[in-house]
Amino acid sequence: MKLLAPLLAALLVAGCHGATENRAESTAQAAVAPILTTPDAKDTHSFANPVEARVTHVALDLDVDFDTKRIGGTATLDIQRKPDARQIVLDDNGLEIDSIADGSGKALQFTVGAKDPNLGAPLEISLRPDTQRLVIRYRSAPEAGALQWLTPQQTAGKKLPFLFSQGESIENRSWIPTQDSPGIRQSWEATIHVPAGMTAVMSAPKSAEPITQGGESVFTFKMPHSVAPYMIAISVGDLTFRSLGPRTGLWAEPATIDAAARELSDTEKMVAAAEKLYGPYAWGRYDVLVLPPSFPYGGMENPTMTFATPTFIAGDKSLVSLIAHELAHSWSGNLATNATWDDFWLNEGMTTYAERRIVEELYGKKTADEQIALGIDAMNKAVKDAGGPGSPDTALHLNLSGRASDEGLTDIAYEKGAAFLRTVEAIVGRDKFDAWLKGWFDRHRFQPVTSAMFLADIRQNLVKGDKSLDDKLMLDRWVYKPGIPPNMVRPPLDTFAEQDKASTAFASGSAAPQAWASWTTDERLRFLNRLPRKLPKGRLDALQAAYGLNGTGNSEIRFAWLSLALSNRYDPASPSLEQFLTSQGRGKFVSPLFKALASDKQWGLPIAKRIYPKARPLYHPLVTRGLDKLSL
Ligand code: BES
Ligand code: ZN
Repeated sequence: MKLLAPLLAALLVAGCHGATENRAESTAQAAVAPILTTPDAKDTHSFANPVEARVTHVALDLDVDFDTKRIGGTATLDIQRKPDARQIVLDDNGLEIDSIADGSGKALQFTVGAKDPNLGAPLEISLRPDTQRLVIRYRSAPEAGALQWLTPQQTAGKKLPFLFSQGESIENRSWIPTQDSPGIRQSWEATIHVPAGMTAVMSAPKSAEPITQGGESVFTFKMPHSVAPYMIAISVGDLTFRSLGPRTGLWAEPATIDAAARELSDTEKMVAAAEKLYGPYAWGRYDVLVLPPSFPYGGMENPTMTFATPTFIAGDKSLVSLIAHELAHSWSGNLATNATWDDFWLNEGMTTYAERRIVEELYGKKTADEQIALGIDAMNKAVKDAGGPGSPDTALHLNLSGRASDEGLTDIAYEKGAAFLRTVEAIVGRDKFDAWLKGWFDRHRFQPVTSAMFLADIRQNLVKGDKSLDDKLMLDRWVYKPGIPPNMVRPPLDTFAEQDKASTAFASGSAAPQAWASWTTDERLRFLNRLPRKLPKGRLDALQAAYGLNGTGNSEIRFAWLSLALSNRYDPASPSLEQFLTSQGRGKFVSPLFKALASDKQWGLPIAKRIYPKARPLYHPLVTRGLDKLSL
């Protein structure tokens, strides 16, 4: 592998591994992570040319203006460049740029190139021979794709407005002018000005206590490690903090914090379980920010602070695998990061594998096996949705050039990726696999990684020249070929035997099973999802009468039920459907439901047309971007 040697090798911090890092590193410079230069590490979703000139550090000084829905101020970028580089190219999506100067205040020429519908535009800045620093005065546009601005009405407390960002995969270029590529790691710091009385949090340790003065509060943050720029995140609102353990805690609106704290009471134990699997937690604190219901994802692994949907709060901790997942990204994703979105499975597949290992450690093997089995169902559906096992989009390593970066966001990356790692684990044995896994993160801490690097590392450190083992693993087939290789290991066949039997019996007329009352959420989901998609109305009546599914507060079960109801044009579920679609904006729930409604021209489309205008203001730009195409 060819690496661009860091120009300032002296900046490399020796001995930054291990648990003793916090104090030492908070004052030291972050090591500059290398840029990978192999063709497979070329990011087709960024305009940057980092081999010529790259950003190493971002310092933000920004005002959050709820009236104009803009974040604005200065971004000061430290760069490394070839001595003869004439320009540096940043990523931009709709930024309004006032001026760009170098570190001594001399103006630099810049141009914003043609806008690509997926990528935004290149921001090309001329460099003088001595330019080492850029000072950009700018503000984000009100429609910035990373940002959602909520009115007080759209929050739980209804008193103050709210803001949050979502950077992954390529949204941060709508509010931060930098090289927005996961392979160009940058340390960063920020000073954030908000209206007095509001609280700002970011995905980094705070560097001082906030100061309130003259109608504003000022918060400061500093991320001492170099991270992929999609990991810079902010939220501002009526937020309070509650400790969950020595290094874990919870941020939420006051109205949400009690329920969230009960649901999250295992968080500290999860960190311990993850460390056992992966090695020491590298980021200091692990906090969870529970957002208002319009958060577009289940969770987002922003370093030091997972951003999470409130829809994971079921009241019985049955959906907390989501937290295990985001926590696991503190290694897979945040320490070793996909260099490009073509290798997204390295983030999500490894994390989904680890998520289930953490679940096994905390809640037992049966629970983990159930979640694995549901994952395999989801994987099979993803293969179908991609056009079958011959489709190139069912390979783990993708080719997304010319396509939207998030087209790889499917259960191929998550579940085929996880199945691959479980298969390797089963073949080599857990002890050997775990030792390799720890080593992988040790060897790639704070670095970009590719599929090719993954395969080379596994061959060098796990297979170690054992030809017959190599054949057995089918490594290249898993990563580069479409479909699911025949060596995939599965959870025990009887994992959901009871639910599958009950599902078949119910479909052919038996009473709604009483055992439901004793089933876990995962068992209930399997039962519902295995029912035929077309059922007589009487069968749906029986389910509703027995389990009250229209009113369930478990978002996953509600979604499974509404999907089934919708495919049967089941009118008694319509009020529940409307309530669900207008009370939360998680893309995984609302997008499939609206798409299913819209494709049923006679029954569903009128319902969608009635509900969407009401629901839309709640939804994040990332979600409305897709749903607006349905012309509802
Ligand atoms: N990193 C993802 C979210 C993401 C992926 C955002 C790609 C933007 C682009 C996060 O870790 C994730 O996978 N969230 C899942 C939940 C998880 C339990 C599978 C989600 O949001 O549904
Ligand atoms: Zn994830």
